[in-house]
Amino acid sequence: MECVVQGIIETQHVEALEILLHGLCGVRKERLCIHELCLKSVANLGLVSSEIRLICDLEQSEPTWTVRHVGGAMRGAVADQISVLVRPVVESKVSKNALRILNSLGYKLDHELLRVGFAFHFQRGAQITVTVSSINKMLKLHATDEAVPVTPGIQLVEVTAPSSSENYSEVAAAVSSFCEYLAPLLHLSKPGNSTGVVPTAAAAAASLISDGGGTKL
Ligand SMILES: *[C@@H]1O[C@H](CO)[C@@H](O)[C@H](O)[C@H]1NC(C)=O
Ligand SMILES: *[C@@H]1O[C@H](CO)[C@@H](O)[C@H](O)[C@H]1NC(C)=O
Repeated sequence: MECVVQGIIETQHVEALEILLHGLCGVRKERLCIHELCLKSVANLGLVSSEIRLICDLEQSEPTWTVRHVGGAMRGAVADQISVLVRPVVESKVSKNALRILNSLGYKLDHELLRVGFAFHFQRGAQITVTVSSINKMLKLHATDEAVPVTPGIQLVEVTAPSSSENYSEVAAAVSSFCEYLAPLLHLSKPGNSTGVVPTAAAAAASLISDGGGTKL
């Protein structure tokens, strides 16, 4: 399982976010350039439709493909009380011909994306990953070098941490408390419930940039 929250930030404030994240977690950022193919199977003969993603980080020296399936979010009274979404995730490494195999199993390409940005991985009550990326679409099939932004000037921020059915509340609490540090720059909430950019972002970004992230939070 994983705990996840998302938010958006204007590209002009991404540098300030990077300074803040670096100050908070003390690790170097990793560049990422993720080619993502979203495949859907059509519902037929008693099989429900399903969606899977083929993902490849083109920044790696030897890019490899991963297949990822995200299940439905945890529901119920407990899930409603926490401000983080908890969902099952299955990931597996796959070979380069995975697309052909999945096609033959009835999965059709729905859309493809290129996520370009950076990530921070660190331990803070949980194994937290923060990714900041612009979402691009390809003008031609698989043409990752001709990608154009889907929402120019806006980047997606995602905070995730692995969890299990035993420890999700502890992990969700760690993710929520980390997100509070980012609140002046962006609001993070459950996916699908984005609240837009925050009004304090410009002032917070200006002060972070002027002191170079030197202020200890
Ligand atoms: C919670 O469980 C997951 C899955 O077993 C594990 O990867 C993660 O490190 C655990 N986190 C904490 C904070 O115990
Ligand atoms: C989604 O956002 C609305 C408005 O900001 C808020 O009232 C609601 O509680 C949020 N829902 C979830 C599941 O976070």
